[in-house]
Amino acid sequence: MSGNPQRKYRADYAVPAYLIDTADLDFDIRDDHTAVRAVYGVRRNPESADTQQWRLDGRDMRFVSVAIDDRELSENEYRLTDDALVVDNPPERFTLTVENVIDPEHNLSLEGFYRSGDILCSQCEANGFSRITYFPDRPDVMARYTTRISADAKTFPVLLANGNCVDSGELDGGRHYAVFEDPFAKPCYLFAIVAGDLGVIQDSYTTTSGREVDLRLYTEHGNEDQCHHAMASLKQAMAWDEDTYGLEYDLDSYVTVAVGSFNMGAMENKGLNVFNTACIFARADTATDSDFALVRDVVAHEYFHNYTGNRVTCRDWFQLSLKEGLTVYREHQFAIDQGSPGVTRIRQVRTMREIQFPEDGGPRAHPVRPESYVEMNNFYTITVYEKGAEVIRMIAQMAGREAFLAAVRHYLDKHDGQAVTIEDFVVAMEESTGLDLEQFRRWYAQAGTPRVRVETAFDNGELALTLSQHTPATPGQNEKAEFDIPVEIALFDANGAPVREPEVLRLNTAEKTWTFDGFDAEPTVSALRGFTAPVRLEYDQSDAALARLMAHDSDPVCRWDAAQALYLKTLVADVGARCDGQAPVKAPDLLFDAIETLLDNPPADRELLAEMLTLPSEAMIGEQFEAIDVFAIDAARSALKQAIATRFAVRFEALAGEHAAQGAYVFNVAEAGRRRVLALALDYLAAIDAPGIVERAAALYDAADNMTDRMAALEALRDRSDPARDRVLDDFAATWADYPLVMDKWLRLQAMTRRDDSIERVRELLADSRFDFTNPNRIRALLGGFARGNRPGFHRTDGAGYALIADEILRLDALNPQLAAALAGILAPWRRHVAAQANGMYAALERLGAAELSDNTREIVDAGLERSGEAA
Ligand code: TRP
Ligand code: ZN
Repeated sequence: MSGNPQRKYRADYAVPAYLIDTADLDFDIRDDHTAVRAVYGVRRNPESADTQQWRLDGRDMRFVSVAIDDRELSENEYRLTDDALVVDNPPERFTLTVENVIDPEHNLSLEGFYRSGDILCSQCEANGFSRITYFPDRPDVMARYTTRISADAKTFPVLLANGNCVDSGELDGGRHYAVFEDPFAKPCYLFAIVAGDLGVIQDSYTTTSGREVDLRLYTEHGNEDQCHHAMASLKQAMAWDEDTYGLEYDLDSYVTVAVGSFNMGAMENKGLNVFNTACIFARADTATDSDFALVRDVVAHEYFHNYTGNRVTCRDWFQLSLKEGLTVYREHQFAIDQGSPGVTRIRQVRTMREIQFPEDGGPRAHPVRPESYVEMNNFYTITVYEKGAEVIRMIAQMAGREAFLAAVRHYLDKHDGQAVTIEDFVVAMEESTGLDLEQFRRWYAQAGTPRVRVETAFDNGELALTLSQHTPATPGQNEKAEFDIPVEIALFDANGAPVREPEVLRLNTAEKTWTFDGFDAEPTVSALRGFTAPVRLEYDQSDAALARLMAHDSDPVCRWDAAQALYLKTLVADVGARCDGQAPVKAPDLLFDAIETLLDNPPADRELLAEMLTLPSEAMIGEQFEAIDVFAIDAARSALKQAIATRFAVRFEALAGEHAAQGAYVFNVAEAGRRRVLALALDYLAAIDAPGIVERAAALYDAADNMTDRMAALEALRDRSDPARDRVLDDFAATWADYPLVMDKWLRLQAMTRRDDSIERVRELLADSRFDFTNPNRIRALLGGFARGNRPGFHRTDGAGYALIADEILRLDALNPQLAAALAGILAPWRRHVAAQANGMYAALERLGAAELSDNTREIVDAGLERSGEAA
């Protein structure tokens, strides 16, 4: 905590004054502390003029000594502050030795070196290394590391660090040691160390050129049988990167450690990934189909970082999307190749619209490459990650697949071993593809979601299609220049037959018109196919045109989107009516006819059918309004769901029957799709309390051999007051008491239960022994599940939901500021809500604003209170 947090600016970048070629670290792990001794081979950076003093970052540790070329410095030769060690007038080339002591046992920040269960592990990105030892904690200082670890052999039989184990052995007093050498120079954020009593599963992978890579996955004992899907996914990812980009793994071993306490999903430390167990564990009876997909994709994501992130890294943290946008893009393409391509893409689009668009339209809107920050950990955002990936996708689309793959290889060759910028990446793309990306660069610089309006006129067999763009102001950026926006379109006739091949239009001015001729009748336009650009499309298409696209569009994204647009028309009208105190608006017959057509001619892809029958989420409905009324949205969505369920009850009964399990659980597209349709049918039937639904859901719960079906049953029962609900929930808690990640599902389900007393239930669970305030997964399940997944509960009119979250943010901020700041982000977009809700959210933010806060949470709260002064 500091009174006056420092804001850092991208424009202030200066090269490091000194470079570190080698870092030899020694960790002496003891019961109540760890002693660290670091020896650096240092030389003056010829490119820097700044040589008076040299600053090494370091926080929350006890300094012991510092020496230059083995001569210990006296107190007037260096200065120590809260967060740095400054050495005056260092020589041209020297060896620096620093000794310090850290306390992993009492480090609850989950940054630096800390304890998770029986494991001591590290997390250094973004600035955790400066909690381990004194070092210039910035990614453009790259060193070759040697790491020696010594510890009690019984408590910590497994010792790990990046690279190859080059020495190990016994020591006196029951202790042992191991020494690791990482041949690749790396920034300190990729450093990792692990010590513990761990179980392991082992496998191997032979690369195309014949390198045999030893694959190991460590977890606490007893969890090994939940790790096989992650191991299989790793091998899939290794093969995919060879087949697609020609990239082979570059070390002899690839080690992954899964820990229970982790702030994010996983971390790509060179050769030694550390994962949240939530992104590794997946067994049929403990994990759902979405968990299986998540594990597969995060394992692949971290693996892909080995090139896009580790071999070529970021010069400074403003460039974060250089590695994250590109790696998410690679992960997205991998996922598309593994699953149902259409539905995988639909899920990516949904994430953009439901989570990224709101961020881009709220108080925390920032460009993919931010201009300033207070706390870097607040910038691991959906914008940097997912919008960053969409920007890469646009480049790939403009270049064409083969040219894009070649351009990525050119970028990796050109900058191998370097710490570079987004500009360097874009230049490499231009060099290799020949594209002119001058205007396109604005996607990195300007925040906000462009709105693209589509207007058509049909006359004399000719269709005139006009696209126009406008991007609303965002904090710190009032004027927006025009974006270069690729919009893919296709044209269909009245029977849904294509009358023109898909084509990509480039909208790079405020407005542009294209004409297409030779039509007998006005064609139907399918626009933004595959979501070719991260924009909000404004197109008042007729119900009939939407129904046609919903029935026939060859692009699954547009087909799904047409269904969404039809649902949204009714929902928006109904929400509006409810807000104005008017009679609810009912769905038109055309909507039911369109659903009937879909049910009569369902797509072969079961997951696509399920997606098309799923109503837009509350978040998506909220996005249609200037001012969100959570209660009107909830009421309208429930009403439409009931109307559809009533009309098609017989069809949903049939679907449930046809999609029941035939054999043992397998995770593949066909089976996951089947389970999705079953869950969807039960959900609709539960919405109208269809006869026998409780028994049916309870029976599914009892008979299921897998967590996906069991969760579908629990969700169908979730909101009812019925002994059957309590019986299955209790059974669930008893069965999975020793599986914390499974108990997270139990916590989340209750937090999301739509009941008048859900806040009181959340408060009860906060005090339950099955909850643990020091574990981020538990917090995300209970508090995240409540604040994000139970909108009516969170926005309860007496303000108790806001008070609850504010209470917990304050309590959490003292332990884990990163996570507290993330929770505070839920309150920040108060302006998007109707007055009653906005006032309550604002009051909670003001209460936070008046308290003593970490820099992390302070930055978010100030942005919410519009006091940050500088946001872009
Ligand atoms: N680099 C990680 C990834 O996306 C993200 C990450 C893991 C992280 N742990 C973190 C970022 C802690 C900030 C803080 O793969
Ligand atoms: Zn990443």
